[in-house]
Amino acid sequence: MSIVSLIIAVDGFSSCGKSTFAKAVAQRLGYSYIDTGAMYRAVALFALQNGIFAGNVLDVPALTARLNDICISFHRNTETGQNETLLNGKCVEGDIRTLKVSERVSEVSAVKEVRRKLVLLQQEMGKNKGVVMDGRDIGTAVFPHADIKIFMTARMEIRIQRRYDELVGKGIPVSREEVGRNIAKRDHIDQTRAEDPLRQAADAVVLDNSDMTPEQEMEWFDNLLQAKTG
Ligand code: DC
Repeated sequence: MSIVSLIIAVDGFSSCGKSTFAKAVAQRLGYSYIDTGAMYRAVALFALQNGIFAGNVLDVPALTARLNDICISFHRNTETGQNETLLNGKCVEGDIRTLKVSERVSEVSAVKEVRRKLVLLQQEMGKNKGVVMDGRDIGTAVFPHADIKIFMTARMEIRIQRRYDELVGKGIPVSREEVGRNIAKRDHIDQTRAEDPLRQAADAVVLDNSDMTPEQEMEWFDNLLQAKTG
């Protein structure tokens, strides 16, 4: 296995530090990083902006009918060096991280047609390899033959604290209880939906980072890479 052309799939529960870890791995290897959760979030934002939630209920036929009006891409912000999510050409990186979108995204991501569209797009984005992709179904549905599959998890109280710190750090007023409820609800929907539910691929390696520093995570990854590539 050559180190220059791997597909690395990072799946797991929300607020486990997947994106921080996946970004660090991509940077270490000089790979592209693709945040597939951002893509589902962008579709949820589109639905919210276009009245596709009738009250609190997602209007699935209306969303399905508008899927061709949704174009999602990424661009690199040259000032921050970070990838940003574009929805129909407009940067929505801030808008897709709000609690309002977090509360609605699991329903949107359970829609078969949404998944079909985004999985195809993700396969296209990763076809040249040299990519680290994070999400829920990367090692099971998007790239079932990924070279390295990592399944991330962490203890619930740690996940709540991380998400709470992230939101408060962005100036978003929220309580730990609200964050806990949102995480528990998303876990439930992600694991029980009919289409590509979150589950650990049989050949994935588990990373529980509850008590790990970023340096320890990277050391763990280096050992895994060494074991996989020799
Ligand atoms: O990683 P995240 O929390 O930003 O993901 C947002 C939502 O998108 C999450 O509730 C589940 C969904 N998702 C998915 O269904 N499949 C993916 N590959 C990535 C995310």
